Amino acid sequence: MGLRKNLNNMNQKIFIKTFGCQMNEYDSNRIFDSVKKIGYEKTETYEDANCYLLNTCHIRDKAKEKVYHEIGRVKKIFRSKKKPLVIIAGCVAQAENDEMLKREPYIDLVIGPQAYHKINDTILNFMEKKNKIEETEFDAVSKFEYLSKIKNKASKVSSFLTIQEGCDKFCHFCVVPYTRGPEYSRPFKQILDEAKYLADNGSKEIILLGQNVNAYNNEGYRLSDLILNIEKLPEIKRVRYTTSHPRDMTEDLIEVYKISKKLMPLVHLPVQSGSNKILKSMNRKHTIEEYLTTFDKLKEINPKIEFSSDFIIGYPGEEEQDFKDTFNLIKKVKFINSFSFIFSPRPGTVAENLDLIERKISVERLEKIQKMLFENQIQMNKSLENKIVDVLVENLTDDKSKAFGRSEYMTSIIFNGNKSDIGKIVQVRIKKSNRNTLFGEIINNLDQKVA
Ligand code: SAM
Ligand code: SF4
Ligand code: F3S
Repeated sequence: MGLRKNLNNMNQKIFIKTFGCQMNEYDSNRIFDSVKKIGYEKTETYEDANCYLLNTCHIRDKAKEKVYHEIGRVKKIFRSKKKPLVIIAGCVAQAENDEMLKREPYIDLVIGPQAYHKINDTILNFMEKKNKIEETEFDAVSKFEYLSKIKNKASKVSSFLTIQEGCDKFCHFCVVPYTRGPEYSRPFKQILDEAKYLADNGSKEIILLGQNVNAYNNEGYRLSDLILNIEKLPEIKRVRYTTSHPRDMTEDLIEVYKISKKLMPLVHLPVQSGSNKILKSMNRKHTIEEYLTTFDKLKEINPKIEFSSDFIIGYPGEEEQDFKDTFNLIKKVKFINSFSFIFSPRPGTVAENLDLIERKISVERLEKIQKMLFENQIQMNKSLENKIVDVLVENLTDDKSKAFGRSEYMTSIIFNGNKSDIGKIVQVRIKKSNRNTLFGEIINNLDQKVA
């Protein structure tokens, strides 16, 4: 208790840097909610920090090296200053655990993604005894029980809410089942309480998160139940979810697109490859035909629904025909806002030791795929010029001269709004566009609303 008091009086400042997916962003925010209780304030500058926390990602190559490189940078910054408390969190922490403490003595604590409920005690303990430790057991229940007791203070217009963690699918290329542990769904009521708290504190959009968000299942409650309950909150204007697995696009979730008033018409549904042969060797547990059946069903319910995806190019065994199948799938589905990367062998996965295809071929294929994905995005944005779109206004631009918001499809929109528009849905007439952004002018009448 005495120590707690001391920390409170010491003007502690934490600098949190986050790599990786939205779940890491959510975790970083919640870590801050937690360490605030023992007296930390946030700083955005390295130099002001007496605690430096790096929330890491392990998904693709050089992840580990990126972490040590970043630590090198911190060391340089603090060369002539008092060393900050250095904490490594996230998926590299989980994968490397005490190896990190051995390799880099500058690191003080290593905390895996399912152990954040212990972070305050771990820090306090270190302050007192200088014990360097790693906390990397999987204990999702305690993590979320703890986090639900300290409020989610995100108070942003658009807020993340993690509903599910971990993965049991073991795709042959992926580290997530090893870094995030087995699939766990948070209790239904715990999530609804957090959503209500976010809504009461200014959130207008909730993005439900999980490595397999649509596998959510808590005592029979599914993702569809969460969406329909959260959208009952009057303050919430939009609901989204990510990332889903094609095999878990169940009928109840597809049906929600018929009845929901607030679920956005962008479905992020990673397919990885357009070839059944590659999907099988990736252990994806779905075929292209099944994927396209989901696509057809959703398009039939609402033709406005658009799809985005993740692609892995150059997976071991990918032949020209497999690549063409991926190319043709993109042509057919016209994915927007997709992510595509060359396969990266990950330690401990089944695909780690498979023969790689020639790098040059992978690079050429990636370029071809990205050209088409970018073209889809440009065309989609161009088609909105002179049309009116609904924009949820999130903030002002950095120079405060314009407002920034997002369309129903998550596209960034910059327009002549002001502070009083933040948190509202306004109509903007699009004047110009590029691949990533729409530029427009706010209007008051709804004459030709399209998106
Ligand atoms: N659970 C989601 C799914 O099944 O589609 C994906 C989650 S994973 C964190 C995000 C993306 O990272 C994957 O969709 C995949 O495209 C990419 N990814 C994962 N492992 C990879 C690897 N070894 N090499 C390249 N990309 C990878
Ligand atoms: Fe990784 Fe596959 Fe699990 Fe997605 S479903 S997190 S790609 S193992
Ligand atoms: Fe990266 Fe872990 Fe997310 S590996 S993508 S931070 S689940």
